[in-house]
Amino acid sequence: MSDVSRGQWNTRLGFILAAVGSAVGLGNIWRFPYMTAESGGASFVFLYVVLLFIIGIPVMLAEFVIGRSSQLSPVQALAQSSQRNWAPLGFLFVLTGFTILSYYSVIAGWTLQYMMDSLGTVFQDHSSEQYFQAISAGNRAIFFHLIFMGLTTGIVVAGVENGIERAVKVLIPLLVVLLAGLAVWAYRQDGAVEGYTYYLAPDVNKLIKSYSLGPLSVPFLNLEILSDAAGQTFFTLSLGMGAMLTYSSYLSKQEDLFEETLIISAFDTGVALLAGLAIFPIIHAFNLVEKVGESTVGTLFITLPEAFRTMGGWGMFLNFAFFAMLLLAALTSGISLLEVVTSSVIDEYGISRNVAATTSGLAIFLLGVPAALNTAWLSLADKIASNLLLLLGGFMLSVYVGWYMSAPAEELRRGLGWNISSLWLGLIRYVVPPVLFLLLMTGFWGLSQDLLAQALPGAGG
Ligand code: TRP
Repeated sequence: MSDVSRGQWNTRLGFILAAVGSAVGLGNIWRFPYMTAESGGASFVFLYVVLLFIIGIPVMLAEFVIGRSSQLSPVQALAQSSQRNWAPLGFLFVLTGFTILSYYSVIAGWTLQYMMDSLGTVFQDHSSEQYFQAISAGNRAIFFHLIFMGLTTGIVVAGVENGIERAVKVLIPLLVVLLAGLAVWAYRQDGAVEGYTYYLAPDVNKLIKSYSLGPLSVPFLNLEILSDAAGQTFFTLSLGMGAMLTYSSYLSKQEDLFEETLIISAFDTGVALLAGLAIFPIIHAFNLVEKVGESTVGTLFITLPEAFRTMGGWGMFLNFAFFAMLLLAALTSGISLLEVVTSSVIDEYGISRNVAATTSGLAIFLLGVPAALNTAWLSLADKIASNLLLLLGGFMLSVYVGWYMSAPAEELRRGLGWNISSLWLGLIRYVVPPVLFLLLMTGFWGLSQDLLAQALPGAGG
């Protein structure tokens, strides 16, 4: 998109569709249930929704404000827009994009395998847990990771991202219909109620945790769950690495940025919540609690085929359709990740689009090989990317917009039908940076504990 002449979105809908295409993906359907299961259920969902309003929406507006006012790619926007040198933030974005796409593509590769194997008899002959264990790590996982990276790179090289708008227009409604149908079906299964309780009734005992400060024991919000919820907010909304910034750099000045933000985040959150409404009742109705507990990263993949299998003749067709759509949703997100990396590399080194996209794609494939060999490594990379890199990106973006950028509130007010610019600036200055800083520290601490526990079995947390 960032070729010779700088275009603009033809229509407002075009921009919204592309942004929704970036936001809706594995983050909603694979990661949201995974993190919910990992963090013990509804408390996580509750914190995610709270953080969406006080962090997610303000940061999305911040990216839109930078992108639209500079009309430049992230690297250039940050290098040129002020007296201070913010260029390193552009490098952080590229690093983050590399990291995320490297394992995102592995999961998309699983999706591709689930789709293709629906056509055979594997799912009739094996439990989906056995299947997941067999295909999630190893040579086959590497092969399908390669296929997905090839597809993504091919699309970015060909520069046919405009097709995305059309694809998203069909894809998202279909995905919503399928998920809603599945949720209704799940509702009618015996044992579904426990799933709803787990998913939707927050437990105060999990939300609050006692921290020991010397001799004192101080109750406070559970920071681990909070930092996971913040990581999810950034991941699912494609924030913290310049993707939304890039897309908004093609926006015209008449757009109401706040309205766009509300539409995009409502869609994105709706799809995630709907996925949970389908998955958690099924986990309980089909007695999958233990299996999911052993491999939370596989929550989605262990759950759905079990349900589809019991639906008779249509089951495997639905399994195919579901994973095909998930694959497309992953593709429209993967493209947005590679697009940021590619346009930054072009701006930085002045090389052609083909070379930039192909080299980046190849490097990302190689970086993802360890994640395709070991799901524990994949989860670790995901934690580092979401809870550290994206939060760091969001922290720096908000400090930049809140304290260094000239007249951000004026930029926001252009085209705005709502009077929220001072509320927004207040959040971006005084709320977002300290909260993200605290959660970053929590993330570093948690990660160092994990590494310590690995180095010294029996020690650490
Ligand atoms: N939001 C996408 C998803 O939920 C993933 C994604 C695309 C992303 N672009 C991003 C995440 C930029 C973080 C930053 O699947």
